[in-house]
Amino acid sequence: MSDGDYVAAKDEGEWRLPPGLRKALPFYARRAWVSFGQPIPLFEHLHKTFGKIAHYRFMGTLIVFVNDPEWIQEILVNQAPSFIKERTLKRMKILLGEGLITSDDPIHMRQRRIAAPAFHRQRIAGYAGQIVESAAATRDSWTDGEEFDVAEAMMQLSLRIVARTLFDTEVTAEVLSVADEVDTIMGLYNFLVAFPKLESVLHWPIPGVVKFRRARARLNVIVERMIASRRALSREDLESRGDLLSELVAARDEAASEGPGEGMTDEQLRDEMLTIFLAGYETVANALSWTWYLLSQNPEAVGRLRWRIIRG
Ligand code: HEM
Repeated sequence: MSDGDYVAAKDEGEWRLPPGLRKALPFYARRAWVSFGQPIPLFEHLHKTFGKIAHYRFMGTLIVFVNDPEWIQEILVNQAPSFIKERTLKRMKILLGEGLITSDDPIHMRQRRIAAPAFHRQRIAGYAGQIVESAAATRDSWTDGEEFDVAEAMMQLSLRIVARTLFDTEVTAEVLSVADEVDTIMGLYNFLVAFPKLESVLHWPIPGVVKFRRARARLNVIVERMIASRRALSREDLESRGDLLSELVAARDEAASEGPGEGMTDEQLRDEMLTIFLAGYETVANALSWTWYLLSQNPEAVGRLRWRIIRG
């Protein structure tokens, strides 16, 4: 990269910008580090060139890239109220509505309050037995020396865990359909995020949009059926069931100023279930797949991991 490609830190109106790319991203389209739908080479390039923080522009938006754990903690935790969620996340409202990932305060705060008991330390510990059982069953299904696709195996494992802990079910045809539809939509994610003014053309017969609409409609039917089946249960049955969906159906906003004891509407439940499914399924599978890969590259770490497992 030549010096002419980048600018030093500067004031721009009321903002102080970190150093960054002089021109908008498409201008660098021929560089090896710019490739549509593949952000990692760009991030690596920015980190190598500018260090912990850099700016660039894409589709008229100024983006500040931060790559430092302490600064990220500052943004996400210490000074979180000074920040709102960004455009690409908000775009997912077309699927996730006002779920925890896409909503801002005050809705976000209220949903956090209602959902909190379902994520309490003891509740999570309660899922541990099911998680270990699923992991052991996966391990026992492998034979020594067998070759298989680890990423695929981790997807199946995390789906099994999500099905049990979220919906109290095995990987039924219904759960597989949820995973399929979510996969279809995530496959369209880059297209959906990059599409200008998508929200206003959602009903148009554009192929990718039609595909999204159909997948979303099928998902809604399945998740709404699951919610209705929980609504039909007595409070006692809901509480004894122990899966996350039952927890959320039973949850009440005890601290709400607009009247204590309010629960979630069917729409909110749908948004949160899809959010948690999306947040907790592919992320875990990918993290596990990369963990195995990195362990395979690092025998010394495998030794330390074994040692910890043996010592408990
Ligand atoms: C290795 C696995 C995981 C990774 C890497 C991961 C990563 C993240 C990240 C980066 C965010 C912040 C998104 C943003 O606001 O910009 C987030 C939020 C969230 N994640 Fe995860 N996650 C993982 C596992 C899970 C699991 C297992 C669940 C639930 C079963 C989950 C549920 C959520 C929820 C509900 C939020 C929104 C929280 C809020 O804003 O109140 N995640 N996750």
